[in-house]
Parts: sequence; structure tokens; C-alpha cells
Amino acid sequence: MINTRRNFIKKTVIAGAGIAMVPNLSFGINTGLFGKEQKLKVAMIGVGLRGTNHLDNVLLRDDVLLTAICDIDPARITLALDRIAKKGQKKPEVFGNGDYDYRNLLEMKDVDAVIISTPWLWHTRMAKDAMMAGKYTGLEVSAANTMEECWDLVNVHEQTGTHLMILENVNYRRDVMAVLNMVKQDVFGELVHFRCGYQHDLRFVKLNDGKSAYGKGVEFGEKGISESAWRTQHSLLRNADVYPTHGAGPIAAMCDINRGNRFLSLTSNASKGIGLHDYIVKNGGGNHPNAKLKFKQGDVITSTIETANGETIIVTHDCNLPRPYSLGFRVQGSNGLWEVDGNRIYIEGKTKNPHEWDAADEWLKKYDHPLWQKYGELAQDAGHGGMDFFVINAFIESAKQNIAPPMDAYDAAAWSAITPLSELSIENNGEPQDFPDFTRGNWIKRKPYNWMKDTY
Ligand SMILES: NC(=O)c1ccc[n+]([C@@H]2O[C@H](COP(=O)([O-])OP(=O)(O)OC[C@H]3O[C@@H](n4cnc5c(N)ncnc54)[C@H](O)[C@@H]3O)[C@@H](O)[C@H]2O)c1
Repeated sequence: MINTRRNFIKKTVIAGAGIAMVPNLSFGINTGLFGKEQKLKVAMIGVGLRGTNHLDNVLLRDDVLLTAICDIDPARITLALDRIAKKGQKKPEVFGNGDYDYRNLLEMKDVDAVIISTPWLWHTRMAKDAMMAGKYTGLEVSAANTMEECWDLVNVHEQTGTHLMILENVNYRRDVMAVLNMVKQDVFGELVHFRCGYQHDLRFVKLNDGKSAYGKGVEFGEKGISESAWRTQHSLLRNADVYPTHGAGPIAAMCDINRGNRFLSLTSNASKGIGLHDYIVKNGGGNHPNAKLKFKQGDVITSTIETANGETIIVTHDCNLPRPYSLGFRVQGSNGLWEVDGNRIYIEGKTKNPHEWDAADEWLKKYDHPLWQKYGELAQDAGHGGMDFFVINAFIESAKQNIAPPMDAYDAAAWSAITPLSELSIENNGEPQDFPDFTRGNWIKRKPYNWMKDTY
């Protein structure tokens, strides 16, 4: 399988002709390998809420042929097929006959790359199987749940030579990319401290009526639907930051984690956990069976990471209490800082008045990332304010060349490792936990990824 994939890439390199195009725009680096004649054959495993979003972005492109989809929920398959037909595209092969039918999809020759958007406990095993089958693998966040799974991703990537990209869309958020641009242009000076996290009131996602994803109700597990069918179990049984990568991913890109820098250690603390119980009582009544449950996850979990280059990163997980959404970014260096809450920037000697914030808008506009300048308009409707377009674009462009993606197996492992390490630290009263070095020492010589390209 791996050889088939390699040969395919080799052959197309030799035979390459034409330009990779989408209806209105030519994409990426235009290697000439793909376009109307030669398309990247993509399959989707999991077409729930997230997978459908990816499906829409894949269907946008004419350098991609969707050859297979897999989901164990027939309703999701029907919905996906309907969208594919409406786009006038050929019906893909369909898989969904039980939990492991995705393995039959992975046997298909007509699949070069797969996008995995399933519940967390399926991520690593599906990604491993996909890499072993030689398929360029895109994996939703978080990539792994345990330290063993983090290592599995790295080991299987190294053993097979097949690439894995963690599909962290927040790395492509417009403000995040503008700040990344500022970081790379040294506007903040030497980097010192970061804050980030996932601060999102998910009570109505973790608990619903079992009929619609955002329906009122206080059910979960077998009686829930969409994320309440699987995500809530993690809140019930794990006191950990179970969703660290939306915050840690963008910060890792800014400070070159696994490429000249690395996460060294972490301490975590958890507040009490009352938010989900409180929501159940208020919406389902004190006599509802779920009101008797004790959720293990603290409502606000705070982890502090130390890096090899001496920065600290505070990562917060805050999903069970009422609050407006914020990823809480702060990027701070020897010259000044950006804070997303308050939308403000201070750069000593550069912002308007000493000791006073500038509104961030002008700065973010001035440093708008070349990718956003180029594709911003096209991306707008792609989901999550446009960043979903860019993460899929990066995946497809990397898969077309079969080269290492911007966010690879080592990143997937290091970022996801925050989950098991935070769990251990919380269990041990905030005791520091060391990160494994997933690069096996190579972080000292790996070159920083060039995030400033205007191609992907
Ligand atoms: N990056 C983002 O912004 C973002 C947003 C939402 C969700 N996500 C991530 O995407 C993933 C999916 O989340 P979602 O909201 O789509 O959840 P979902 O429950 O709506 O969808 C998951 C789908 O996977 C299917 N599935 C489960 N087991 C399967 C199996 N063995 N084989 C094939 N299909 C299987 C389910 O039937 C379901 O349709 C999660 O990892 C989540 O964290 C990321």
C-alpha cells in the first residue's frame, strides 16, 4: 500500500502537466501534479458535524476527487451523499457497516488521503491504521487521549514514513496568523510568556435532548446525539484538560515547538466541578437521574507549561460554566504584548501612548497574513470565520506533494500530551510532569516551519 502511494507520487512528478485549479482560483504551489486531469483522491472517515464541514471544503476544490466516505450513522451518510450530489459530483464508495468498516475503506486503491473526524477515542487507532495503509492522514483535534497514543502516532509515522497532519484550524485564524506574522517579524521582541486555552460554554453541547445536536435537554451517552454521545463521558470520568490544541497549537507555532524549542514540563490544577451538575438540575430538575452523577472534570483547569527556551504558557480549559467564547490568547515578549480579550496591543515606543493599549485592529490589519490577503474572501464562508478553509488547503497541498505537513505527528503528540500530563499533575496536587521528547532529540536541529508562505 505504502509503495503504491509512493509510486503514484513519483509517477505524477514525472508526468506532471497542467495547473492545479479550483473554479476561480489556482491553489497553493501549483506543482502541476494535480488539476482537472489528475486529482488527489480523498476519503472521509466520520461525517458528523465536523466531517460535513470538511466535506464541504473538499467539494469546493477541483484538484480533489472524493472517492469514499465512512460513518456508522446512516443519517449522516444520507446527508453527506445529498451534499455531494448537489455539487454534481460522483457518488463515492460508502462504508458504515460497523465500527471497523473504515478498515475496508483504507484498503481502497483509489484513496490517497483520508480526513478523520470521529469521536476522540477513535482518533489514534484510525490514524494508525490509515498510516499503515499508506494514506496521507488528516486527523481532527485532539489527536490522542493517552501518552501511549501520543507515542503510537509518532512511532507509526516513523515506521511507515506516512505523513500525519493534525487538523488544528485555529492555527489559521486571521488574528492568530497576523500575530504570528508579528512574532516572526520580531515586533514583540524576545518571546517570554503566552496564555491560551479553550474557554467555551459547552453545556448545551455536552447535554442535549438526543434529537438534535443543540437541542435542549440534559441527556448524554446512549441517550444523547452528536458530541453529547461521546464527549461528555470524558467530563464524567477524567479530570484533565481534554481539549488543549486550539490554544496550544497556535502558540506552539509561534515559539517553534519541536523545531528549536520544545515543551519541557507542565503543572496543572483543577477547580471544583459543579457546572454540568448545576445545568442538569436547572434544566432537567433535581430528580433527573443525571443529577445524581458526580462529574470528575474540574470546571476550570489551568496548566502552566515551561519550554526549553524559557517561555511559560498558561493553558486553560473552561467549558462547563456560563461564559462568552474566548481562546484567551496573550503573546508577550521583551517589546510588548497582544491580548485577544480586550482586542489590544502594547508595543513599547510604537503604540500611541506610553503605558496605554492600542486597539489591536490597525496592527492586525497591518500584519495581515499573506495567505489571508490572498484567499480571505474565498475563505469567509468556509466555517469558523474562514480558518477551516486554510487548514484543509494546507492538508490537500501537503498531501498532493506527499511532504511533511505544517503540523505533523510530533506536533500532534506534543500538543495532545497535555491531556494525560494534566491529568497526572492534577491527581498529584499540581506536581510537575515532564513532557517526553517525541522528536527523540531532533528538536535541536529541526528547522522552524515557514509559516509565512502565501501558498498554504
Ligand atoms: N477543529 C474544530 O474546530 C472542531 C470543531 C468540532 C469538532 N471537532 C472535532 O471533530 C471530531 C468530530 O466531532 P463532531 O462534532 O463532528 O462529532 P459528531 O459526533 O457530530 O461526529 C462524529 C461522527 O463520527 C461517526 N463515527 C463514530 N464512530 C465511528 C466509526 N467507528 N466509524 C465511522 N464513523 C464513526 C459518528 O457516527 C458521527 O457521525 C472530534 O474530534 C471533535 O473534537 C473539531
